[in-house]
Amino acid sequence: MKEKRTFKIAVIPGDGVGSEVSAEGVKALKAIAHADDSLDFEFTYFPWGCDYYLKTGKMMDEDGLDRLSSHDAILLGAVGDPKVPDHISLWGLLLKIRKGFDQYVNLRPVKLLKGAPCPIKVDADSDIDMIFVRENSEGEYSGRGRWIDKGKPSETAIQEDVFSRRGCERIMAYAYELASREGKTLTSITKSNAMNYSMVFWDEIFKETGLKYPQVKTGSCLVDAASMFMVKNPKRFQVVVTSNLFGDILTDLGAAIAGGMGLAAGANLNPEKKYPSMFEPIHGSAPDIAGQNKANPLATIWAVSQMMDFFGNEKWAKRLIEIIEEVLCEKKALTPDMGGCATTSEVGDEVARRIIEGR
Ligand code: NAD
Ligand code: IPM
Ligand code: MN
Repeated sequence: MKEKRTFKIAVIPGDGVGSEVSAEGVKALKAIAHADDSLDFEFTYFPWGCDYYLKTGKMMDEDGLDRLSSHDAILLGAVGDPKVPDHISLWGLLLKIRKGFDQYVNLRPVKLLKGAPCPIKVDADSDIDMIFVRENSEGEYSGRGRWIDKGKPSETAIQEDVFSRRGCERIMAYAYELASREGKTLTSITKSNAMNYSMVFWDEIFKETGLKYPQVKTGSCLVDAASMFMVKNPKRFQVVVTSNLFGDILTDLGAAIAGGMGLAAGANLNPEKKYPSMFEPIHGSAPDIAGQNKANPLATIWAVSQMMDFFGNEKWAKRLIEIIEEVLCEKKALTPDMGGCATTSEVGDEVARRIIEGR
C-alpha cells in the first residue's frame, strides 16, 4: 500500500471575506484527502486579524512566526478592516509573515481560464496566459523611511525603496529558471527612465542574470507601457518579473482582464523551504460584500492548486484548475461577481463534489 503523507496546514482566515473563502479552501483540501488515499491534511487555525487586534492590541501573537514555522504551508484568507488602519493591520500580519518567512517569490498567474468572463476582446483563451514573478521581500515594500517635521510647514514623509543585489539576483534567477523550464519568454517590468538608482540597478541585474540563460528570449518594458499592453495586447507577456509594488498593481489589473478579483490567486514562496510558504487569493477582505456569503471562493481554490503544485502534487494542482474551468463553463454554481446567484459555500460544495466524484 502507498504510504500516506500528511501535510500540516496553518489556516489564517483573517478578516472580512477571508474567513468565508478560506473555509472553501479547507473544504477543497478535505475533499482531496477524502478522494486520495495517499494524502492527508491536518489543520491548525490561527484567529489573528483585526478583531484580534481590537481585543489584544496585536494582529498576531508575539511567538506567531515560531508557531507557524512547524507547518508545511499557510492558507490565508485576507487581512484588513475599516476599523483598523491598513498599515497597522497589514504590517502586523500579512507582510510580517511574507518577510519573516523570507517568502521572496510572489507567484501570480494571470490566465484566462475557459469560461471566465473577460472585459476585453481576445481571440482565444490562450491569449491571456501570463505568470507574474513578483519580488516579495524588499523594493518599495522595504518598510523603511521616516516622517520628519511633523505638523510644521516643512513636514515631509520619506519612503525608501531598497533593492539589494541578493534580492534582485534571486528573484531574477527564479524567473529565468521558470521561463527556461516552460520554454516561455521573460519580460522584466521596469521604470528606469524615472527611477534612476533602483530600477537602473534592476535592469542591470536582469541583463547580467540573462547571460546564464541564453536560451530564454527576453524583453524589458516600462511599467506604464506594460499596463497599456496588458489590456491592448496581453499575449505579448508570458513570464513577467517585476518589483514588489509594480507586481501588486499589475496583478490587480491582471485580475480584471482574467475573470476578476474572485479568480486571482497568489503563492508567497520561500523556494528553499527553510520556512513555510503561504497561499492566498490576491484580493482583500472586500468589506463591501463581507458576511454575505457571496464572495467568490475560486481564487482561494486556485491558491490551493498552487499549494498542491508546491507540494509536488501535479495531479491535484491540475485537477483543481480543470474543476474551476468546469464550474465556470457549466455556470450553475457561480457567485454574483461571475453573473451567478450561488453562495460562497455552494460554489465550494460544487468544487468538493467534483473532487470526490471525479467529474
Ligand atoms: P479588495 O480586493 O478587498 O476589493 C476590491 C473589490 O473586489 C471589491 O469591490 C470587492 O467586493 C471585490 N472582491 C474582492 N474579492 C472578491 C471575491 N472573492 N469575490 C467577489 N468580489 C470580490 O480590495 P480593497 O477594497 O482595496 O481592500 C479591502 C481591504 O483589504 C483593505 O483593508 C486592504 O488593505 C485589504 N487588502 C488585503 C489583501 C490581503 O490580505 N492579501 C489584499 C488586498 C487588500
Ligand atoms: C496584495 C495586497 C498586499 C500587497 C497589501 C494588502 C499589503 O494588496 O497581496 O496584493 O500590497 O502586497
Ligand atoms: Mn494587491
